[in-house]
Amino acid sequence: MVKICCIGAGYVGGPTMAVIALKCPSIEVAVVDISITRINAWNSDQLPIYEPGLEDVVKQCRGKNLFFSTDVEKHVSEADIIFVSVNTPTKTRGLGAGKAADLTYWESAARMIADVSKSNKIVVEKSTVPVKTAEAIEKILTHNSKGINFQILSNPEFLAEGTAIQDLLKPDRVLIGGRETPDGQKAIQALKDVYAHWVPEDRILATNLWSAELSKLAANAFLAQRISSVNAMSALCEATGADVTQVSHAVGKDSRIGPKFLNASVGFGGSCFQKDILNLVYICECNGLPEVANYWKQVIKVNDYQKNRFVNRVVSSMFNTVSGKKIAVLGFAFKKDTGDTRETPAIDVCKGLLGDKARLSIYDPQVNEFKTLDYQRIYDNMRKPAFVFDGRNIVNAEKLREIGFIVYSIGKPLDPWLEDMPAVA
Ligand code: UDX
Ligand code: ADP
Repeated sequence: MVKICCIGAGYVGGPTMAVIALKCPSIEVAVVDISITRINAWNSDQLPIYEPGLEDVVKQCRGKNLFFSTDVEKHVSEADIIFVSVNTPTKTRGLGAGKAADLTYWESAARMIADVSKSNKIVVEKSTVPVKTAEAIEKILTHNSKGINFQILSNPEFLAEGTAIQDLLKPDRVLIGGRETPDGQKAIQALKDVYAHWVPEDRILATNLWSAELSKLAANAFLAQRISSVNAMSALCEATGADVTQVSHAVGKDSRIGPKFLNASVGFGGSCFQKDILNLVYICECNGLPEVANYWKQVIKVNDYQKNRFVNRVVSSMFNTVSGKKIAVLGFAFKKDTGDTRETPAIDVCKGLLGDKARLSIYDPQVNEFKTLDYQRIYDNMRKPAFVFDGRNIVNAEKLREIGFIVYSIGKPLDPWLEDMPAVA
């Protein structure tokens, strides 16, 4: 029986391993973590992360061929394939602070693998890491290997939160990067065999190590860039009276551009986009490519601009002050269908409003119910004029206006009230 061990029971490791266990009954999968509370939660009825469909998958496999444990060393030493999906936050101090990935957790995991291994292992990089991390990890492993053969693979994860289970069950592609040596190719094949249980072969792509690592950063940078592009357009739409939804629709009809990921918003959030772009920027700078670095930096700058713009709209439309005014924040996660608040634009919006001394009440139901609230009742209980600022363009603005609200929708023609109260940048 092939044994897989995954180090790190987080948003990536947990769902990915649950789906591997579901689709590969002949493989034993152990997910290990140093956090006792996280592992206890995975073994309980209250999983540590909210993800539609996850609970079903975990319940089907847990205790059969899927195990959650804090006995990291035991499971690592027994495994044939080790996935590493520990956290890689942006460095907050020292060299590369604010940009480079902090590989402390990765390095300590690699040293532990080298310490406890007694048989050959395939070590799979699953966390998003800077290009050439695999090479560094390979060095740590081979220099401490005691004659054991370690093969490093990069197998970046493309799942999005909120749709993780569907993304894992039907991936657009699975990417496996490895060394171009006979042993490297054998390791790639071993991992291909795991995914081939449910992923069509033409969707499993094999590349060299660095292409796989860079593809993950590139994919996230392209996606984030689309959002910044449409958000930049949303500002122009407001200034000219165009409607960003109509513009996105028209632009997305071009089959070369495509319709997905063109929704204007208060800005992108989540644990990946900003971190990965900062990482990309740092790598470009380190490789003497300042023009390329600046190009990608602009994607983040536009995202920050979009969040500021939203706060400014709120403040300026309420007579340039929200001091002492009560504001309900509906939704705090970085997008719908998740409980994850890492890097959510709501943090910056709330900080901006608190900076102007607003009184905030924050509510997040983890799913999207704001379309169907009883806005008439809400309106009746509010001080007038009553405002709705929609950072996701989900409410029916016309209906709300009929009730009496002043409505701001990102990238849409402005209410006369808002036109009279220009936002100061
Ligand atoms: C992303 C990538 O999609 C995924 O492939 C990668 O593995 C991890 O990073 P995730 O961060 O979970 O996934 O969510 P995603 O759906 O990409 O949304 C990111 C942010 O962009 C959210 O804040 C979302 O609201 C925002 N967004 C997305 C928009 O503002 N407009 C859009 O059209 C799409
Ligand atoms: P991601 O979103 O990439 O999955 P998370 O922060 O959700 O990241 O999860 C990473 C997990 O990795 C955390 O639960 C953390 O406790 C765990 N972790 C970090 N370092 C180690 C380590 N050396 N051994 C075991 N688990 C680790």
